[in-house]
Amino acid sequence: MARPGIVGRLVPPGDKSLSHRALILAAIAGGETELSGLNPGADVESTAEALRRLGTRIETHGEVWRVSGPGASGFSRPRAALDCGNSGTTLRLLAGVLAGCPFETTLRGDESLSRRPMARVADPLRALGADVAGREEDGRLVAPLRIRGGSLRPGRHESAVASAQVKSAVLLAGLVGGVTVEVSEPMRSRDHTERMLRALGARIAIEGGAVRCGGGSIVPPRGRVPGDPSAAAFFAAAAAALPRSDLIVERVSLNPGRLGFYRALARMGARVEWTREARWCGEPVGRIRVRSGKLAGIRVTARGVPAMIDEIPVLAILAAGAAKGETRIRGAAELRVKESDRLAGLAAGLARLGGRVEELPDGLVIRGASLHGGIVDAHGDHRLAMAFRIAGLLAAGSVRVRGAEAMRISHPSFDRDLRRLLTGTRAGGRNSS
Ligand code: S3P
Repeated sequence: MARPGIVGRLVPPGDKSLSHRALILAAIAGGETELSGLNPGADVESTAEALRRLGTRIETHGEVWRVSGPGASGFSRPRAALDCGNSGTTLRLLAGVLAGCPFETTLRGDESLSRRPMARVADPLRALGADVAGREEDGRLVAPLRIRGGSLRPGRHESAVASAQVKSAVLLAGLVGGVTVEVSEPMRSRDHTERMLRALGARIAIEGGAVRCGGGSIVPPRGRVPGDPSAAAFFAAAAAALPRSDLIVERVSLNPGRLGFYRALARMGARVEWTREARWCGEPVGRIRVRSGKLAGIRVTARGVPAMIDEIPVLAILAAGAAKGETRIRGAAELRVKESDRLAGLAAGLARLGGRVEELPDGLVIRGASLHGGIVDAHGDHRLAMAFRIAGLLAAGSVRVRGAEAMRISHPSFDRDLRRLLTGTRAGGRNSS
């Protein structure tokens, strides 16, 4: 029977990175604002709840979130530790905010977040004058993090990793603490924080690879947060592979630092176009059209990784299930310290589905294109869960994903949206959880 394609329009959930930042910057700016289109997943809820405990009023009225921020100097000491759940962005960005606050707070997270490396934020915040203590596990600093902030000094940080979370933590510490900070990284990571800060009135300078924030007061962001290109990537991957597909993703962020995966799809042979239509807080916003094509393997090197860091799981699935020849992904060791060790999880899952995959310390070598059905484990990781769902559309048999409920972290309606876009039906469906 012919495989159903992906046909239609998708308005993806609000961009997760932008949603965290919109709430945090609204709280720092102070005063009242209204935001809509925020990401409905559990991660952004973790940020909202932590900000409430720090003295921010956040109410939701359907799609609209009303935020009344205490302002940079108005945060209050929470009565208990702040629970960041599964969200690294919540924990690391709030660590920056709290470094500028004159009280002690503890940031904790779930099992996955409590294993992730935190020295990358603790070290620069300490250098600015904050007191940051954590737990040591296997020689690395991990959460819970206890932070006593307050009188910071200006500083410059050279990050060893390209990480928007680290960069943002330093910029937010400077903003809340009222000192000039500068941060550079080996390759440019997503630049949402600097774009938003500039659009909201902060003094931002970008020179070479370094971002300097000279503080200043900001106005709160308002309006509709653009859609998430990382959430849409799963549907785009399916559209690229399944014949007769034609997907239009609407109202999505077209930040160039987030489009690496879409450029990779075009290199693999899919027909991909994007059109800018609007701007929000310094972000280009528009639509992306993806049509199927004959796909072939590609090379991804370290330089290309930051702009597709969260899309590598679905790229690997596409390479194994639909692209002829070899796909070689290198320079992606950061995937080992995401919500799970994504390189290990992908290698194990693909092997269960008959994929030809070799795991390298910093990447994967995949030979496509054939997968069969089987049972795979998402390891509690939302992006692995959604990537394996797409494997279910490409494989010759049905794919069962253990731990598929992790999708609630970033895209609670994922399965519903996928069903709607799949044209035609197949007896029994392709996926089961
Ligand atoms: C994010 C930055 C990236 C990304 C994560 C969200 C952000 O992580 O993988 O999903 O919103 O700043 P790193 O900063 O660790 O690279």
